[in-house]
Amino acid sequence: MLMDRFARRFTYLRLSVTENCNFRCDYCLPDGPDCTSRQAELSVPEIRRLVTAFAELGTRKVRITGGEPCLRKDLLEIIKTIKAVPGIEEVAITTNGYRLQRDLPAWREAGVDAINVSVDSLDPSTFHLVTGQNRLPAILAGIDQAIALGIPKVKVNTVLLRGYNGGAVADFLEFIRHRQLSLRFIELMRTNDNVSYYQRHHVSGQNIKEQLLGDAWKLCSKSTTAGPAQEFEHPDYQGKLGLIMPYSRDFCDDCNRLRVSSLGQLFLCLFTEHHQDIRAYLQNDDSTDLKHALQSFVLDKKASHALHENLSGSTRHLAMIGG
Ligand code: GTP
Ligand code: 5AD
Ligand code: SF4
Repeated sequence: MLMDRFARRFTYLRLSVTENCNFRCDYCLPDGPDCTSRQAELSVPEIRRLVTAFAELGTRKVRITGGEPCLRKDLLEIIKTIKAVPGIEEVAITTNGYRLQRDLPAWREAGVDAINVSVDSLDPSTFHLVTGQNRLPAILAGIDQAIALGIPKVKVNTVLLRGYNGGAVADFLEFIRHRQLSLRFIELMRTNDNVSYYQRHHVSGQNIKEQLLGDAWKLCSKSTTAGPAQEFEHPDYQGKLGLIMPYSRDFCDDCNRLRVSSLGQLFLCLFTEHHQDIRAYLQNDDSTDLKHALQSFVLDKKASHALHENLSGSTRHLAMIGG
């Protein structure tokens, strides 16, 4: 079992498979052609060994993140490999949607159970301004395809951005009126690379929460599928609305996740000063040493992230560790 000093159990691994991304979201990777170091990304056998050790310690869910996971040519093999590890019950993926329409059926067949897609604006020109990409219609079609294919969990992520989508809450609500998905508004998080952008564009989730409650949205009781979001529902809407508010005081109290970067570094939190290099443990099939190391590293996990103190630790941008 993986448990920290605060009796939090970790059953959920977020595994970044690449730092590369083909989008340039303003708040994440505004410039630079490529952010990956020259080191090779974890190979499929390394991923298999990593997930096996985590599963032996109680991990039941793996979310594949990036960068953008679809940039890995061997993504299908990665999905199949993770899915085949004994003990893993759910394989999820977070994507910018670039290849969703084309590749979703294959991802599904390989074993993807849940999918989170980023959509920061429903207006094509604003979408282009924020992400540097023109693919909004194809991404929205991909989301509808995911619902039609019966993917058990479909979520859409929208980072709240003053000046871009802060005034578009009504459009997003309309989007989920007839769609069975969970749309989550995410409060922009301050990283080392986006300090001035954060100051200009951060919107507090609390205001949205008050607006929703005033419009007869009801807070759902905390479900196992809500993740870090507070979820709301409304009788007139098929979809649910979530709020991810990392600056709220109790955000980390029931943290259930650990992160591993595409280079094999264990991050105990999204915002942390240190990480542990665990790649050396992934070179053979004996998981004993890795499991001991993980159980001991996890004891260093802090009660909360450092965002309250306005510190981003060593996190330059979220593509580094997959959000
Ligand atoms: P599921 O519960 O598996 O659906 O995951 P999720 O909603 O956490 O995943 P997703 O990859 O869609 O991330 C949504 C947003 O939540 C991103 O902005 C993440 O960075 C943020 N997030 C997820 N986990 C944490 C966390 O532990 N701490 C903080 N501060 N933010 C998180
Ligand atoms: N603050 C909040 N969310 C962010 N994401 C990336 N960077 C940030 C940030 N600084 C989001 C992406 C994606 C999810 C995995 O993380 O938009 O939806
Ligand atoms: Fe790429 Fe996601 Fe970062 Fe946007 S937020 S640049 S899609 S990694």
